[in-house]
Amino acid sequence: MDYKKIIASMTLEEKASLCSGRDFWHTKEVKGKKIPEIMVSDGPHGLRKRPESQDHQDHLGTFESVKAVCFPAACATAASFDRALMNKMGKTLGNECQSENVSTILGPAVNIKRSPLCGRNFEYFSEDPLLATEMAGAYIKGVQSKNIAVSIKHFLANNQETRRLTESAEIDERTLREIYLAAFEGAVKNAKPWTVMCSYNRINGLHASENKTYLTDILRDEWGFDGVVMSDWGAVNDRVKGLAAGLDLEMPGSYGVNDREIIAAVEKGSLSMKTLDTAVERILRWVDRYTSKRQKDAKWDKEADHELAGKIEEESAVLLKNDGILPLDGNDTIAVIGRFAKSPRYQGGGSSHINAFKVTSFMDASKGKSHDLIYADGYALDREELDRTLITKAVNAAKKSDVAVIFAGLPDIFESEGYDRTHMRLPENQNVLIEEVLKVQPNVVVVLHNGSPVEMPWADQVKGIFEMYLGGQNVGSATYNLLFGKANPCGRLPESFPVKLQDNPSYMHFPGYRDKVVYAEGVFVGYRYYDTKGMDVLFPFGHGLSYTTYRYSNLKLSKRKIKAGDPLTVSVDVTNIGRMAGKEVVQLYVAAPEGGVPRPVHELRGFEKVSLRAGETKTVTIELDSRAFAYWDKELHDWRVAPGDYTIEIGASSRDILYTKKVSIESYAKRPMTITENTCFGDLMGDPAFEEVLRPLICSYMHIDKKDKPKTSDAMNEKMATEGLRFAPLRGVICFGEGDYDHEKLARVIKSLQEIYDKKR
Ligand code: BGC
Repeated sequence: MDYKKIIASMTLEEKASLCSGRDFWHTKEVKGKKIPEIMVSDGPHGLRKRPESQDHQDHLGTFESVKAVCFPAACATAASFDRALMNKMGKTLGNECQSENVSTILGPAVNIKRSPLCGRNFEYFSEDPLLATEMAGAYIKGVQSKNIAVSIKHFLANNQETRRLTESAEIDERTLREIYLAAFEGAVKNAKPWTVMCSYNRINGLHASENKTYLTDILRDEWGFDGVVMSDWGAVNDRVKGLAAGLDLEMPGSYGVNDREIIAAVEKGSLSMKTLDTAVERILRWVDRYTSKRQKDAKWDKEADHELAGKIEEESAVLLKNDGILPLDGNDTIAVIGRFAKSPRYQGGGSSHINAFKVTSFMDASKGKSHDLIYADGYALDREELDRTLITKAVNAAKKSDVAVIFAGLPDIFESEGYDRTHMRLPENQNVLIEEVLKVQPNVVVVLHNGSPVEMPWADQVKGIFEMYLGGQNVGSATYNLLFGKANPCGRLPESFPVKLQDNPSYMHFPGYRDKVVYAEGVFVGYRYYDTKGMDVLFPFGHGLSYTTYRYSNLKLSKRKIKAGDPLTVSVDVTNIGRMAGKEVVQLYVAAPEGGVPRPVHELRGFEKVSLRAGETKTVTIELDSRAFAYWDKELHDWRVAPGDYTIEIGASSRDILYTKKVSIESYAKRPMTITENTCFGDLMGDPAFEEVLRPLICSYMHIDKKDKPKTSDAMNEKMATEGLRFAPLRGVICFGEGDYDHEKLARVIKSLQEIYDKKR
């Protein structure tokens, strides 16, 4: 397609019109130019396609989408820590899209889980940007390998539902770079999504949909994004400013209102035709990318994808606790308690809601197997109040059994797009049920269905806990296989489970006051906070048990000393010393040297999932680039690797570090520094290069002679004097010195110091 030629032949009206949707799910065709309309659909963990027969403007979330396969939500798939699995899920969805003529799947959603309360956490991957961006990247590569676009979302800082359309996320530059932008960065750079969806909220006061810093300067100029930026549905505030900032497509469109704004702005000269042409060209390229490689004969097999959904969940569920009770003994009498065993909660509410063509519950999956199961409802799903009759029936079932497996979790109403949770508790009727069952049955396993962490007041008393998250429509098969040991659990928590909500670092500032949400915890999100403070958590980031045991050995670094900017290769051997085949997630954290800017005690910088037969050993190799050691320097406005000794940690969770080795990093590039009267002595003192010029100032300030001898008897005690000097500004010499310096003389000294510094850089 010759985009330039087509654009040259288009009228201003045609161009403006192409920059907004025809309806909720389609772009516009350009008649006479062979530009067809294309369809987009939610995602991200299944197809939410509006049936072709419905041809009216929807209202958010009110239509019944075509029957499809609901895969596990991102809260679950992130726990797989498995790029290949995500890629496979992406490919499968890409194929479904080809078959259904959907050009673009609206996802993945990579927003950071800042607070456990965010109503949409179930759709997001992690509290850690590396894990989020890697999982998203693998998914994107899978979908796009089928010539279907993704729309990675919601760019940027959409970390809550409360006032999501108007709130301003107040975030400092370093935190944005290290946490919130980083969740998008890797995926955008490595997986090259065809489209990006900007978020509803504002960032430091300015709407994401008209924020040139993010939509153009960072996304396109720094990261090399070359696709279309579309708005989240209804996120456009000022269409003309948005277009100028890099927002190409308004979705779902505004009945021509904003198109007319564009036309008027071009006619007035406040928006250049070039800017409009650029947006049009990007949209044309996207339409062409899809239509030119359309696979009309693609077929999808719902049953096969249903099986895959179960397999993905099996590889994602996290075994949180096991006091030897799991896997279950198939010969035992088992009380299966809880409505979720029959009707599992397997997905969240809102735009990602999939019309599952079938659902397999645990009870369905157990049918036809020779187990002695006694089922009891235990609680009602539509209310929180206790129902003593249901509890009594459950307690009786537990009494008659060898083991009780309680299916608990959050009912639909508890978490959804559109609103946040207000607490982190399970419904009261479930907590009481678990306590009552524990009174009569010591062998209790809890199986959880929830999209984000819950408090577990009974955690110490039960013998086993499985976190299934929202495991997709075939969650029942996965649960069955895992509980009975037909599969070996291998998921790891992609987020920390705090003991209680108040422990979370964003607690005091979530969901903000009026329209402002201050991200006061800065980079200390999730384990970056809990681990740095050494706080108790219920379950740490990266935690997950297995039915086998792994042993690590032979940790090697390619070098013990590197220069800032150099890569480092880390390898470690992992052996499955148990009797069952399994998959281990090797986690690599880097701990920066102390001193300098405040940094988390360690950060995840690499991970690899490895499959091991019983007795097998494999070497896992992880390559680290300079970003693994860097922080964002607000003065440089760039990444910086501070010199010093870094610790490479290999762990089974952020709290279970098994091996460490140090690498020493030499930094040759010094950061710029402007020396002024307010620069402290201590900032210059350690460096021998300044010694000669600085010495007279120090002598005067401290009233000492060149040999450090006090000149007067009222000299301060030594410790106080040295510490006082370290934090004293150079101008102090005018007041506390011996009258040797005035501002002019001090300025000359400062000039010399600056020259020395600049020469050294
Ligand atoms: C959601 C998006 C979704 C879009 C279309 C919005 O309300 O935030 O994630 O893709 O609706 O359904």
